[in-house]
Parts: sequence; structure tokens; C-alpha cells
Amino acid sequence: MNYAVLGAGKMGSALVHGMLASGLTTGDHVTVSATTPESAAKTASSLGVKFAGSNTEAIRDAGIVFLCVKPAQATAVISSVSPDLEGKLLISIVAGIRSEDLFQAAKGGARVIRSMPNTAVRLRKGITALAPHLSSTEEDLKMAMAIFSSVGSALVVRESDLDTVTAVSGSGPAFALLMLEAMAQGGIDGGLEPEQAKTLAAGALAAAASLVNETGQTPLALRAEITSPAGTTAAGLKVLENKGLPEIVRASILAARNRSIELSIPPIHS
Ligand SMILES: NC(=O)c1ccc[n+]([C@@H]2O[C@H](COP(=O)([O-])OP(=O)(O)OC[C@H]3O[C@@H](n4cnc5c(N)ncnc54)[C@H](OP(=O)(O)O)[C@@H]3O)[C@@H](O)[C@H]2O)c1
Repeated sequence: MNYAVLGAGKMGSALVHGMLASGLTTGDHVTVSATTPESAAKTASSLGVKFAGSNTEAIRDAGIVFLCVKPAQATAVISSVSPDLEGKLLISIVAGIRSEDLFQAAKGGARVIRSMPNTAVRLRKGITALAPHLSSTEEDLKMAMAIFSSVGSALVVRESDLDTVTAVSGSGPAFALLMLEAMAQGGIDGGLEPEQAKTLAAGALAAAASLVNETGQTPLALRAEITSPAGTTAAGLKVLENKGLPEIVRASILAARNRSIELSIPPIHS
């Protein structure tokens, strides 16, 4: 299978990096494009893949085309290459652009799947939600699942839920990083060296995620196992709950989701 990556910027590059690291494909099967051939060449050389001087050229030999440009450019880029997309699988990672709009921009010739990965795909620890458009087949979805599973894990959601996905797993790492910073600062306040505090806080968050992912138990049940009555964890949890941390985090998810919805509404041109 040959892959084209239209717009290999931060996220497109992270995806390619993860796919190569996983062994799913090799550099000679991936072609990237960017705004200019010079920019594409630079990215291609750092990733160890091929580059194309135009989007049309990038697509030519590809079976799967990843759309990784900014939302404002997405439909224009697809319209400009619509004849070349005939019969190809188009996987968009673009936030806020509906799969139907991409399908229409491609003049109905491409099979479309929309996705929302996060930057951890670079480390093969990403989480990606996939929303198949009606034009795509079960085989396409299986292929997309295999690709995104090679760079972390993947699940299928309704397209209407992608704004919430963006908030939880797209923006979510930044929320968890704020928690990590605060935990490390607490460790520094308690006398740890900054590096020790950061390592211990990161280890604690990684442990929480691994426990959830690998035991299949609920966060609540796992939390109960760590929390003995009147113990240290209970003392800390009491402060977090009394200060309203769960409500604050839920509100932050809602704010990010609402912003995602706002950003996906095209501006009205007079
Ligand atoms: N960053 C995230 O965490 C994240 C997570 C999930 C989804 N996404 C989505 O990923 C997409 C890309 O985000 P990003 O952060 O990677 O942005 P970025 O770094 O700015 O990358 C955008 C890329 O598009 C290229 N480009 C612009 N116009 C083009 C055109 N006409 N033809 C071909 N390439 C073109 C740019 O080329 P030049 O480098 O030459 O300018 C650049 O390489 C966005 O739609 C975003 O919604 C991002």
C-alpha cells in the first residue's frame, strides 16, 4: 500500500513517524506534500520518506490519502485534486470539517473516513477516534483501524461525537499535563528536586492510565483499592473533591467541546 500525506506539518509528520516506527510501512511507500516543494522536501528528508512537488503528484500512486492540512485549507485542497482522488480512500485528521463536505469537495469520487488522533501517535501511544462516512466500506474501516492501532489505539465513534472526542483525547493530554505540573509542584513544595518531582508525577499519571487500560477495572474501583480509610490518599482526595476538581475538569471538557463546535462552523461571508 502506498500512502500520500497532504500537508505533512506537525500532526502529519507525527503520524508518519509513528507508522514508520511501527513497521506498518516503509519510507519508500509514503509521499508527503506541503505548501511548497522545498518545505515538503525538508519534511521528507527528516522523516525518511518521499516528497512530491504538488498534491496531485503525491496522490498519484497512493491507495490511501491522509489529509493533514489546517481546517481552513481542507476543502479547497480536496477540490483542487478531486479527479486524482477517484477510487482512493481519503482519511482526514482535520478538526471540524465534516466528512460529507470532504466527500462533496472530492466530487464524490473518494471514500472518506474522518479521524481525530492526538500527538502521541508519534510515540505510538496515540488514541484515535474514527468516524466512517457512508462512502467508505467495512474493508476501509478495518484498514484505518489497523493504521491507527499501529500508532496507539483506535475506536469507532459517531461523527457527531467528534467534538467531544477532540475535547477528551485531543485537548485532554494538555489538561493532564496541567495536573502533572501541579503534582510536581506539590512534590517540590514538599522538598523534592524538580526533576525528581516531575519523574514521580509523570510515573503516577502513567500508572493510572496503565491500570485503567490493562486491568479493565473502572477508575472508581481502582481508586478505592489505593485509598485506605483515613490514609494518605484519602486525605489528598478529600482536598481535591472539596475544592471541586471533578466539576472543574468536566467544565473544561465542555468548554473545549464548545470551542471545537464553534471552530467547525464556517464564517458567514457577506
Ligand atoms: N496538532 C494536533 O494536536 C492535532 C490533533 C488532531 C488533529 N489535528 C489536525 O491536524 C491538522 C494539521 O495540524 P498541524 O498542527 O499539523 O498544522 P501544521 O503543522 O500547520 O501543518 C499543516 C501543514 O499543511 C501544509 N499545507 C498548507 N497548505 C497546503 C496545501 N495547499 N497543500 C499541501 N499542504 C499544505 C503546511 O505546509 P508548510 O509547512 O509548507 O506550510 C503544513 O505542513 C489540522 O487540521 C488539525 O485540526 C491536529
